[in-house]
Amino acid sequence: MISHPSYAVEPWVLRETALDLGLLAQSESVFALSNGHIGWRGNLEEGEPHGLPGTYLNGVHEIHALPYAEVGYGYPESGQTIVNVTNGKIVRLLVDDEPFDLRYGRLHSHERVLDLRSGLLHRTCEWTSPAGRRVRVRSSRLVSLTQRSVAAILYEVEPLECDVRVVVQSELVANEELPQSGGDPRAAQAPRSPLESLEHASEGSRLRLLHRTRRSGLRVAAAVGHTVSGPEGTQLRSESSGDVARLTATSTLRAGERLRLEKLVAYGWSATRTLPGLRDQVDAALAAADSAGWRGLVAEQRQYLDRFWSRADVEVDGDAEIQQAVRFATFHVLQAGARAEERALPAKGLTGSGYDGHTFWDTESFVLPMLTYTEPSAVRAALRWRRSTLPAARQRATQLRLRGAAFPWRTIEGAECSAYWPAGSAAFHVNADIADAVVRYVSATGDEEFDQDCGLELLVETARMWRSLGHHDRLGRFHIDGVTGPDEYTAVKNDNTYTNLMAAANLTAAADAVARYPDRAARLGVDDEEAAAWRDAADAVHVPYSSELRVHEQHEGFTRLEPWDFAGTSPDQYPLLLHFPYYDLYRKQVVKQADLVLAMFTRGEFFDAEHKARNFAYYEPLTVRDSSLSACCQAVMAAEVGHLGLAYQYLHEAALMDLEDLEMNTRDGLHMASLAGTWMALVAGFGGMRPRGDSLGFAPKLPEAISRLAFRLEVRGRRLRVEIEHSRVTYTLLEGAPLELWHFGEPVTVSTDAQRSLRLERQPHRTPPGQPPGREPRSHDSSVGASQGRTSSWTEMTTSRTEMTI
Ligand code: BGC
Repeated sequence: MISHPSYAVEPWVLRETALDLGLLAQSESVFALSNGHIGWRGNLEEGEPHGLPGTYLNGVHEIHALPYAEVGYGYPESGQTIVNVTNGKIVRLLVDDEPFDLRYGRLHSHERVLDLRSGLLHRTCEWTSPAGRRVRVRSSRLVSLTQRSVAAILYEVEPLECDVRVVVQSELVANEELPQSGGDPRAAQAPRSPLESLEHASEGSRLRLLHRTRRSGLRVAAAVGHTVSGPEGTQLRSESSGDVARLTATSTLRAGERLRLEKLVAYGWSATRTLPGLRDQVDAALAAADSAGWRGLVAEQRQYLDRFWSRADVEVDGDAEIQQAVRFATFHVLQAGARAEERALPAKGLTGSGYDGHTFWDTESFVLPMLTYTEPSAVRAALRWRRSTLPAARQRATQLRLRGAAFPWRTIEGAECSAYWPAGSAAFHVNADIADAVVRYVSATGDEEFDQDCGLELLVETARMWRSLGHHDRLGRFHIDGVTGPDEYTAVKNDNTYTNLMAAANLTAAADAVARYPDRAARLGVDDEEAAAWRDAADAVHVPYSSELRVHEQHEGFTRLEPWDFAGTSPDQYPLLLHFPYYDLYRKQVVKQADLVLAMFTRGEFFDAEHKARNFAYYEPLTVRDSSLSACCQAVMAAEVGHLGLAYQYLHEAALMDLEDLEMNTRDGLHMASLAGTWMALVAGFGGMRPRGDSLGFAPKLPEAISRLAFRLEVRGRRLRVEIEHSRVTYTLLEGAPLELWHFGEPVTVSTDAQRSLRLERQPHRTPPGQPPGREPRSHDSSVGASQGRTSSWTEMTTSRTEMTI
């Protein structure tokens, strides 16, 4: 999309200069606003045309039966799906007697701008109705980051040539009709008419609708307050019925006059609160929003984001496209997590209904790493949500005849929602991913209160699961058999390296936490013997290795399997999952997404540099990247093993996943993992950042096309800025007590009055491995990025460590 002529490359905004109805659904995703609690897709105010109407409240879902032709023990019986709740974005307009509908009449101009600094989505358009009345319509909207239950719109209409009579209908609408999904397994099973009316009201310029989801029984409330200003004679009327509440403003406007409407919307939902309780809750939220007013909300939003960017901004010189994309990505990841407050962070955030609104390991392994160093309070809340789902995870473990907790592969409120299938049901690694996120958060923040309470319990229950899932063989080696790792084209295999290494880290971290808090651990029933058994298992974990090829195996026996017939697979047969039976994918060497390569990133200390390079070279030609989670991981490892040009191409793929709709499903919502992966590719890839004890290590190296990369991180209450150029890196402590960090393995101390500037050396070119034919990362148009020196051939310069100057 961004390469579409109507999208401009600018550092702080995403601007669309013309409306292309063919791109409407995707644009609704990229222009979505959210605070993690409320999600408003970028639907046009007038409601139509639309790609996919979408208003979401984190956690509001409907349940449905999961049908099986043949039932098996332990198959989940019901699924959960995100619900499109009451739409508060609707503002319809009648110009004289014709509806403002961009499919008719003449559209002279249409511009939408998502401003990443103010957090506002602006729209301006000029349109002439079929009867020849020309008007300008302007709107701005926000989903408040400071008032969690509130969203707001400012809407203005003015005639441009002659007097017009306008009617503006500002509405709350429930049970909107949704387009049917086209059978893509990654889209949603949207329930029809999911909301049952409980109450409706209109009083003056205030509107309220209360509903209940039919099967899950959740109560949902939306209330609206308006401030309308227009010329004398402007009339207001309000009305409501079960699924619609409406304020109608009628006015005759002369050229130059305006009708202006401020619409404040408050949302609430609950599984437990009574109807009066919920009614009062939204009225109270509206009162708070009212006291700030539109201008106050705009000012608060800006303040919130100024503070955020001062801790999280990433600057990229040399590639304007990446500069824009990383800010766009950072903004959307923030939106997904900012005010989720002990609710899940879905794979699409609240930008669409893709994957039914489910949360996967994407959260802990991709989204939380970025937030840990930029908005740690969101990570604490997200992990607390996981902890709140422990009862369901324990139940699932018991059902599977395991100990501890087995967290779900996909869920909205905690129960396993993956109908049985090998890739989901056996993907136990999600347990270790959660544990990894706990360890990362605690070491980055030193949050002891969380560590001893929430962290400990999550580590203990996940470790218990591993210990009961795995077993020691006659030689004492610890195996975890019959599991699925990250690569979903390989399922139910023995000793998946990623899973084993992550499980080992999980077991060790749990034993360490028990040693830190023995009394609390005892209350969870952990004794010395149990913790010792975890350490034994971790120390003895088996990691399959092919001595013949001198590479680590993705799972035991992987390198022996028949290679996939890449030459006989045409480019239009990707993603393979839509064109080939899974049984065939499972028995061949073909990798959907980084798996062993991801293990080398997350458990880097296990592999030496030589193996990292060789493993990367082995798996690269087998990896088809049919998942949006892959490119960013490959970027990080390509950078680490010295293929900076390749890493740069993967960075582009991760960064433009949604802006260029690379997987053709941005319409269903944004790919949060890939957005966070953009940050990861830059910070962990070219910055070489890795957690190291209570601090961080860096190994900076820039690709030719990027002349400067700077990023900010929060660690242990300090604010750090890292600025990398080809010949030097500068570590600056912006705030906090002196910090010892690691530069290419050497300790370096920074303090607020002593920044450290270290020289970097260039290293020679290395020939990168190839990809499966037709799956090479797309080489992008370097003219867009104004990227001096970006070349299309493999020009690879690695910078490395150093001697230092201060
Ligand atoms: C990937 C999973 C991922 C899921 C949701 C799948 O295509 O293979 O790893 O968790 O999408 O993003």
